[in-house]
Amino acid sequence: MLALTRPELAAARQALTGRVAVVMTMGALHEGHVELIRQARKQADSVIVTIFLNPLQFGAGEDLAKYPRTFENDLELCTHEGVDLVFHPSPDQMYPDGDPGVRVTAGALGEKLEGASRPGHFDGVLTVVAKLLHLTKPDMAFFGQKDAQQLLLIRQMVRDLDFGCEIVAVPTVREPDRLAMSSRNTYLTDLDREVALALSRALAAGEDASPEGASAIRRAAREVLVREPLLLVDYLVLVHPETLDDVPEWYRGDALLAVAAKVGRTRLIDNVPVVVG
Ligand code: PAJ
Repeated sequence: MLALTRPELAAARQALTGRVAVVMTMGALHEGHVELIRQARKQADSVIVTIFLNPLQFGAGEDLAKYPRTFENDLELCTHEGVDLVFHPSPDQMYPDGDPGVRVTAGALGEKLEGASRPGHFDGVLTVVAKLLHLTKPDMAFFGQKDAQQLLLIRQMVRDLDFGCEIVAVPTVREPDRLAMSSRNTYLTDLDREVALALSRALAAGEDASPEGASAIRRAAREVLVREPLLLVDYLVLVHPETLDDVPEWYRGDALLAVAAKVGRTRLIDNVPVVVG
């Protein structure tokens, strides 16, 4: 399969028939991305995968320069999964004037959790997602629950700005040891990886405590994290799944237990949906 540049995309897109789905990625594809592609193939007639390492969503001092690049492998994987089009624009094609002056602003929801640690990150994400939606014109777009805040913000953008495309969420795909799949896992040393397992262990402990209420969930998850001194926890929160505000102690119903932490020099995030009470 050939990857399309920006000038080639419009004609190829027009030739697609039926319901068209898009799966947006930054490359370094893994089983999590594959699951998105498979779900898209099931629910749509044609699937476009975009591979674009978006500089706009990386802050100064973040890992843009060392982010894994495995393009040949990604392309093979897309062929194997029956993807119809791969769109792989260059940064120049996406941002001909360098940093775009006009951007999508994520608003208040974009300043919580990940946004608090990575200022401007979600403006960069939403700006590129908006551009890729315009360019690929899909009926449906598939995103992972792994990046729960990103998914929420994309839903909000599509609603607030009337993109008119359906957003489909796909549950988090995990390694056999329960570590959430991530392109950034390739940064982990053997020791880092052992330490990183505390994240999913903490979430599982929280999940197990869910019948006992919000405080018990938080306590159970925190107890696992404090036992791992090599983990530098950024946040561990039990929040409302739509507002991302901390749920009160008396809360009953759907919530999101989310964690972010540094393992060595790698920042990892994970979350699980829980039903409180
Ligand atoms: P990237 O990290 O490459 O992820 C692409 C898509 O795969 C996202 O929707 C993400 O939530 C999903 N994904 C990643 N790991 C997953 C896992 N373990 N299980 C299920 N889904 C998983 O997210 C981005 O790229 C970018 O921000 C992007 C949306 C492409 C905009 O640049």
